[in-house]
Amino acid sequence: MTELSGKVALVTGASRGIGYGVAEALIARGDRVCITGRNEEALKEAVEKLGADRVIGVAGKAHDEEHQAVAVERTMEAFGRVDFLVNNAGTNPVFGPIADLDLNVARKVFETNVISALGFAQRTWHAWQKDNGGAIVNIASVAGLAPSPFIAAYGVSKAALINLTAQLAHEFAPKVRVNAIAPAVVKTKFAAALYEGREEEAAAGYPLGRLGVPSDIGGAAAFLTSDQSDWITGQTLVVDGGVFLNAGVG
Ligand SMILES: NC(=O)c1ccc[n+]([C@@H]2O[C@H](COP(=O)([O-])OP(=O)(O)OC[C@H]3O[C@@H](n4cnc5c(N)ncnc54)[C@H](OP(=O)(O)O)[C@@H]3O)[C@@H](O)[C@H]2O)c1
Repeated sequence: MTELSGKVALVTGASRGIGYGVAEALIARGDRVCITGRNEEALKEAVEKLGADRVIGVAGKAHDEEHQAVAVERTMEAFGRVDFLVNNAGTNPVFGPIADLDLNVARKVFETNVISALGFAQRTWHAWQKDNGGAIVNIASVAGLAPSPFIAAYGVSKAALINLTAQLAHEFAPKVRVNAIAPAVVKTKFAAALYEGREEEAAAGYPLGRLGVPSDIGGAAAFLTSDQSDWITGQTLVVDGGVFLNAGVG
């Protein structure tokens, strides 16, 4: 088993998919990790699979302030520090344009995708990072970089998350670096509607010839929470198999 790095991460929404891939990457380099998710049973199973000696799970909804407080407290109690925060939990309950979007749905999207990230960042900052340093990574989306009519409200929220990243990077410097990752389609339950039954066709649009997998994002998150990225803050790293390059082709 890898030696402990001495560092600790909190990864939201990590019982499966991208968050799980991020947790796996951080554990592989020796970090101890707290993962969150709504379904307690699924979270327990993920803790067991990742290794209960280095991982704890705290169940709850990312936007719930009480849950945010408990998750940070439990991380501090279990491991004594919280160096890294990966804001990964996200939602996309609606498809289509926003001209007639129910504003309550818009609020829900922003609550989970933007405000929860701010809430967790405020808490890890005060609990540990402002005095001891660390890094924050927000999982945004390529949908936050350009209009995306099929997932419009989601895209607007991810654009806000990208701006929140830059804002926090400014406020938390020089102690804490804050960056975002903007993935294109990664094969998870969340994105299944975008590729299931037509994966080959979907992948054909990607210059690197395939859709993403959670470990692609895990690798990027490990980089952005390592010394290798010590002089990078406020940035959004596009991890997309090159698909965004197509926007520049006539
Ligand atoms: N997959 C993609 O193609 C893609 C592309 C770009 C960006 N992203 C972003 O990547 C992030 C993760 O997506 P994913 O594809 O890995 O999704 P996923 O496979 O559906 O996994 C989502 C994880 O987050 C948890 N979760 C969901 N809603 C939550 C909430 N409100 N509070 C706490 N935990 C919650 C889920 O567990 P429970 O259901 O038990 O809560 C699960 O562990 C999202 O922010 C998404 O916007 C995904």
